[in-house]
Amino acid sequence: MKKIICKTYNEMSWKAADIVITAVKEKPGLVLGLPTGTTPIGMYDALANAYKDGFVNFSRVATFNLDEYVGLTPDHPQSYRYFMDKHLFGRVNIKPKNTHVPDGAAADLGAAARNYDALIEKSGGIDLFVVGIGQNGHIGFNEPAASMPAFTHVVELTQNTIEANSRLFNGMSEVPLKAVTQGMATILRAKKILLLASGESKRAALEKMESGIITLDCPATLLNLHRDVTALLS
Ligand code: GLP
Repeated sequence: MKKIICKTYNEMSWKAADIVITAVKEKPGLVLGLPTGTTPIGMYDALANAYKDGFVNFSRVATFNLDEYVGLTPDHPQSYRYFMDKHLFGRVNIKPKNTHVPDGAAADLGAAARNYDALIEKSGGIDLFVVGIGQNGHIGFNEPAASMPAFTHVVELTQNTIEANSRLFNGMSEVPLKAVTQGMATILRAKKILLLASGESKRAALEKMESGIITLDCPATLLNLHRDVTALLS
């Protein structure tokens, strides 16, 4: 794993955007895996600015987001589809039909999850997966557990995640108890992974990941199985 320590959050965000822009220049039809959360907002701002200034063209790029809350429709301000439209998709020239976020409001969540994996497969797989990390070491919503499905699935959120994510809702009772997430197998099949982490609250999870010991108690440790991970830390 390549580790790059950045002095500031802004530096991390610009470096992350630069890696994405370089990848799009190398392959205009890039298939990108994308995260939500507070951490990638600076990267999305940098990408939107780079697009505005003519440095990057998203017209052939396809994206597959990591996860979505179960029960939230795309027009819900806390849904991850809403977040992505606001922070990136609505600000660049990506084609809406090429942007994918798991459907947390599907009547048949299992079928929707299988369809999501099939779409990723059909796209040729993910070239570059940008991921964040939860305080408990989750990637996407792959929570610490004794076992976990390899591919897209519904997951019950842990108390730690509900508490950590409640800051964006009007209280803990409004945080959905379940989510749909891509599985670790899809994440690990990406050609390249870029991990973004900022702040003290991520330190314990990062230390476990960097220890090199693989455990499902900290799903981020599974990233040690991949041969091309860059961690940008601030
Ligand atoms: C959520 C998302 C994760 C993200 C994590 C960290 O739980 N499902 O994909 O990595 O939050 O978010 P933040 O960047 O706000 O700390």
